[in-house]
Amino acid sequence: MIDFSLSEEQKAMQKTAREFAQKEIAPVALKYDKEPAFPGEIIKKAHAAGLMNLTCPIEYEGLGLGLVNASLITEELTVACIAIAGMIGINSLACGPILAGGSDEQKRRFLIPLNRSGKTASFGLTEREAGSDAGGLKTRVRLEGDHYVLNGAKCFITNASYASFFTIFASNDPAKGTKGICAFVVPRESPGLSIGKVEDKMGQRALNVAEVILENVVVPRENRLGNEGEGFKFAMEALDEGRVNIATCGVGIARAAFEAALAYAKTRVQFGKPIGTFQALNFLLADMAAAVESARLITWYAGSLADHGKKFIREAAQAKFYATDVAMRVTTDAVQIFGGYGYTKDYMVEKLMRDAKLTQIYEGTNQINRMVAGGALMR
Ligand code: CAA
Repeated sequence: MIDFSLSEEQKAMQKTAREFAQKEIAPVALKYDKEPAFPGEIIKKAHAAGLMNLTCPIEYEGLGLGLVNASLITEELTVACIAIAGMIGINSLACGPILAGGSDEQKRRFLIPLNRSGKTASFGLTEREAGSDAGGLKTRVRLEGDHYVLNGAKCFITNASYASFFTIFASNDPAKGTKGICAFVVPRESPGLSIGKVEDKMGQRALNVAEVILENVVVPRENRLGNEGEGFKFAMEALDEGRVNIATCGVGIARAAFEAALAYAKTRVQFGKPIGTFQALNFLLADMAAAVESARLITWYAGSLADHGKKFIREAAQAKFYATDVAMRVTTDAVQIFGGYGYTKDYMVEKLMRDAKLTQIYEGTNQINRMVAGGALMR
């Protein structure tokens, strides 16, 4: 029998996250949207409350949660503000390549101080000319004696301005394509590493996204993850988990929009009746509820495969594009239900619609995720 009910422990985790999100994030979400800033104090509190580094194993001082349990927490944080939730959760993606390819010594050296301190890190794959075609990256690495030298530029790097280290991908031989890509942990204070343009975005305004410039950056050999040429695989493995996380963000943002629209449709009266009782809007609300719940289930399904050690590449990709398309549709419909008010910055649904758009773009555009899922169907 399939049972979707949560255990007492899961309910407690969800409650902690919900209370934290409603107390610490929701009241300031619109302020951070209007005046983007680093939500450092909130991150510090999230760390103290045990709401950070969710999937990092306990032996490296993370919380050691599976993807489904992490999803319970992330959904609650995202309902309050996806951008602040993204800053709290960025370490999962940044540390994914270390967990995928690092030695035990590297995991201890990089993950324990990060998890203990509550600091944040960043994942550095994307470049101006290598977005969807991540394997076409131009950042170069060469071995010189006992160290590597990195040159290139990364763009759209989440949390770049505040990262204590970066997991960076670079090629030592472009002729080898993805098989020439190597992965490194690059400390922020490395000479030659600088932060370039900080993006001024349509939505998710509190999510810091910036360029990382690497000019003759020296990285010790012992910071290379796995073998030369294995980096692309580690990036993809990190993204597989990341896509379940972004699917969860889609669920959270869609739920926030649905809950706001439902409450409004119950209280807004036109023609002498609450607008939610008119069939046109009533059916819209029914579709929105079904979309949120199906997005959550497809996301938990991908997460539970991962938690049981099963292959989940296709399911992660399908959850990502499905749940984030739901987020876009449900937030757009929520604005429609609010009418003219929904189009103003006085109401949260306007922010939710702008925020949702990015979920269809990052961690693989939804076109790339359909390609991953569709490709798997044909193999
Ligand atoms: N999981 C594990 N391994 C994978 C994989 C996956 N999902 N996808 C590919 N691989 C492996 C393949 O098995 C292959 O290895 P072998 O040769 O040993 O079999 C190797 O990687 C190369 O695979 P492909 O030939 O399929 O590679 P490709 O060049 O055709 O690219 C792609 C495949 C799926 C399009 C990939 O480039 C991709 O995912 N692109 C999108 C990039 C992306 O998601 N960027 C997000 C950036 S981070 C971000 O947005 C985060 C943020 O800021 C919040």
